[in-house]
Amino acid sequence: MQTPISAYKRLTYYRKKSMIPDKVKEILKKDGIVAIATLGQDGPHLVNTWNSYVRISADGRLLIPAGYMHRTEANVAFNPEVLITLGSSKVEGLRGAGTGFLIKGKAAFITSGPDFDLLKSSFPWLRATLAVTPESFTQTL
Ligand SMILES: Cc1cc2nc3c(=O)[nH]c(=O)nc-3n(C[C@H](O)[C@H](O)[C@H](O)COP(=O)(O)O)c2cc1C
Repeated sequence: MQTPISAYKRLTYYRKKSMIPDKVKEILKKDGIVAIATLGQDGPHLVNTWNSYVRISADGRLLIPAGYMHRTEANVAFNPEVLITLGSSKVEGLRGAGTGFLIKGKAAFITSGPDFDLLKSSFPWLRATLAVTPESFTQTL
């Protein structure tokens, strides 16, 4: 049976400075795939990374290693707004096992400095750090 949209439980956290919900941190420790959507002149675009590749900076940004992501970079230059979804079947959610989030934020590609060096030590193949400043986290499951 389908859940009516009005009864669909969602929790949105608007970001306080340096705050990433603990549930998101828990998800990032489990196996899974992250989706990152951008919008360019040619329309929407979607790429992925692994949960385990995402790092959190001291000021609460999500740092993602970009080995490729050339079209994503061009889209971010056109429009910095990004949508990210991530989840894990192994973390408790709103209705039992399994949870995930929709994150809205603004992105930048960084090619030098501490945010770049932090990821370079774990991912020698990266050409840039995709840094996302989150604006809201909605728990969707
Ligand atoms: C599960 C999965 C994980 C991926 N992880 C990365 C990653 O960490 N970094 C990256 O640059 N591309 C990663 N990719 C490839 C990207 O999704 C994307 O196709 C590629 O970077 C090209 O991006 P572009 O279309 O923006 O140029 C991954 C793909 C999959 C399916």
